[in-house]
Amino acid sequence: MDRKALDRVVYGLVWLACLAPLLWLAWRGFSNDLGANPIDRLIRELGVWGLRLLIIGLAITPAARLLRQPRLIRFRRTVGLFAFAYVLLHLTNYVVTDQWFDWTAIGKDILKRPFITVGMAAFALLVPLAVTSTNWALRKLGPVRWRKLHRLTYLIVPLGVVHYYMLVKADHQPPLIYGAIVAALLGWRVWEWARKRRAAGA
Ligand code: HEM
Repeated sequence: MDRKALDRVVYGLVWLACLAPLLWLAWRGFSNDLGANPIDRLIRELGVWGLRLLIIGLAITPAARLLRQPRLIRFRRTVGLFAFAYVLLHLTNYVVTDQWFDWTAIGKDILKRPFITVGMAAFALLVPLAVTSTNWALRKLGPVRWRKLHRLTYLIVPLGVVHYYMLVKADHQPPLIYGAIVAALLGWRVWEWARKRRAAGA
């Protein structure tokens, strides 16, 4: 198989892997397998998959460097866009099935429940990244400004973890584990940045 064909196969597999949780959730929904409170379960599952994909997106650059596989970087945008799609569905589910389009109640929720405020802030910051994910936007902004804007993920992903941590009532272990992974991924970036600065100064 030549390189182009292999690239297409890998790309297809990445798409399939990103879509699989959604298809699995849809299947479980249709077969009444989402427990006693399916709406709540669906919101939670979409949220957790949104967060997982955001973290995977954050892990691609360190993985590409450490494994010496720069071609991995090409999948960052696809994974990021899928993360956005899951979070958008998470939010849509909340608006439609949890709040029944009651915008006053949603507004009150954003102001009164801090975990909703934090989730909404993370979503609001995600929107410009999703909108500028086209090749056209990349050309318009130029690579330097585009990269700077997309550094917002360093804020968005921790906000996603904080949102998760704030809403759990009993078992704080899962959000803490996600938090530790995010801290390690951001820590690696700080270390890389310091290493490059030292090398430039030497
Ligand atoms: C980047 C943005 C966001 C991420 C990564 C995210 C992630 C999550 C995660 C991981 C959970 C918990 C899942 C679990 O318990 O297994 C969750 C729950 C939830 N999120 Fe989000 N979320 C985001 C934005 C939002 C927004 C914008 C809203 C609504 C305005 C929202 C509303 C909720 C609600 C209502 C729950 C369920 C709370 C409960 O069942 O008590 N989230 N989210």
